[in-house]
Amino acid sequence: MAGKVYVVYASLTGNTRKVARAIAEAVGGTLVDVRKDPLPKVEPGDVLFVGDGVYGWRPSRAMRKALASWPLPKGVKAAVFGTYGGRPAQIPALEKLLRERGAQLMDSFSCKGRDWFLLGLIGRGRPSPADLKAAQEFARRVVRG
Ligand SMILES: Cc1cc2nc3c(=O)[nH]c(=O)nc-3n(C[C@H](O)[C@H](O)[C@H](O)COP(=O)(O)O)c2cc1C
Repeated sequence: MAGKVYVVYASLTGNTRKVARAIAEAVGGTLVDVRKDPLPKVEPGDVLFVGDGVYGWRPSRAMRKALASWPLPKGVKAAVFGTYGGRPAQIPALEKLLRERGAQLMDSFSCKGRDWFLLGLIGRGRPSPADLKAAQEFARRVVRG
């Protein structure tokens, strides 16, 4: 693997951050929180993991804004991940935004996250250790190509 791996994520209540950290650990990626960190300068040959929760059936505004202004080399490999309360509606939306920026989509991963919008009653204990392990397997598959 010649290029760098970036794990670019937005996380309002911490679930997607857990998955992002697990992925970064598995594949030696650099974590980038779109609410805090500058977007990296991506080179051809790098691999991007892009992760978000789903809020009102959309990706976060922070991630939508980031993807709208992020220059990407044509054909850069990207894989989307996320956590959700009911349904991972952000995944196809993020894939569409990345495709519009010229990225080549490799694979996607999603799992439930504890849903603080519903007082944390739904998805208790998620993402679970098994979820994080599955996320790491997904990440290794993507990086292997
Ligand atoms: C304000 C808010 C709105 C949400 N809207 C949805 C939704 O429309 N559909 C859904 O499946 N989950 C929804 N959820 C659940 C989150 O997507 C889920 O908890 C996810 O793991 C949050 O990720 P985060 O902890 O990284 O922010 C919502 C949660 C919050 C806090």
